Amino acid sequence: MPADFNLTYLDSNMQRLRTFLDNHCDNPDLVAVIDGLMVACKDIAYKVQLGGLAGVLGSAEQINVQGESQKKLDVIANDLIKQALRIMPQVKGLASEEESDAVACNPEGEFLVLFDPLDGSSNIDVNVTVGTIFSVLQSEPGADPTYEATYLQCGREQVAAGYVLYGPSTILVLTVGKGVYTFTLDPRVGEFYLQREKVRVPATTKEFAINMSNQRFWLPEMKNYVNDLLLGEQGPLGKRYNMRWIASMVAEIHRILTRGGIFMYPYDSREPQKPGKLRLMYEGNPMSMLIEQAGGKASTAYENIQEVEPTSIHQRVSVVMGSAEEVDNVIRYHKK
Ligand code: AHG
Ligand code: MN
Ligand code: MN
Repeated sequence: MPADFNLTYLDSNMQRLRTFLDNHCDNPDLVAVIDGLMVACKDIAYKVQLGGLAGVLGSAEQINVQGESQKKLDVIANDLIKQALRIMPQVKGLASEEESDAVACNPEGEFLVLFDPLDGSSNIDVNVTVGTIFSVLQSEPGADPTYEATYLQCGREQVAAGYVLYGPSTILVLTVGKGVYTFTLDPRVGEFYLQREKVRVPATTKEFAINMSNQRFWLPEMKNYVNDLLLGEQGPLGKRYNMRWIASMVAEIHRILTRGGIFMYPYDSREPQKPGKLRLMYEGNPMSMLIEQAGGKASTAYENIQEVEPTSIHQRVSVVMGSAEEVDNVIRYHKK
């Protein structure tokens, strides 16, 4: 057998996701939820890889509740995750970027799952990394899964959070509140294997990610901070910075969990009544939990994202997250 088809690692100590979860997670019902969610994510990964051959590229020619036009893969990913969660007795209800209202699953279930079925969907048709982001909350017994209020818990209440990155490899990044772990999918056997344990975000960085085309719409505080970044070693921050923008939050956060950095999608005045572009419950909160569990920071620039009290499932939030010292710099500029 050629070396690249060598499966001997399957006999080694590499841990399958299910084994890891059974050893690492106290609540077997939560293990079942994560396991069930991954069934859908593996299917999404398969469809993403087939791309045009599976007829999944292009627009669905529909508008979602956010007023954004949906891609075919936004709809497919949403349907796959919804199908997987609805049949699980442990899941009480779900909320998704692509669903206008919360969806009741099993009234006896203990968990609520909130998700962005496909993040970075403007990248699908150009074959650039996309992902699924999820947040798991525990529900009060008797709470009604059809009521939006049932889902409105702040990020600190999350019992698990993660994302699945559909890139050159398919990678699950997960926390159940005891550090961050990454798992790589072996598509030949359909199993995720543990790759990195207790991931840490370096405290300092020289790399930032922000959509510079929105500069003129930012608050003066954010303009000042980014101007100073651009001044490099001659500016008050005293460092030469590099910039990245993938337009896929999952890919940006994955880079930051790998080598540090800061990711920002701050408030801007294009739609002044909205606090930001990204959604609190299924983008801001789960990514904040991962970043904080890895030793980084996540802020709106004024308060900790996971402490923002939600008022609706599709609520927006200003996002600044990544290496702790750099997030502190942004917060300092906003206090000036
Ligand atoms: P989604 O595809 O789920 O709507 O989210 C896209 C988000 C996020 O992933 C990314 O950081 C940002 O939108 C990109 O926005 P711009 O196109 O404004 O750069
Ligand atoms: Mn998204
Ligand atoms: Mn999305």
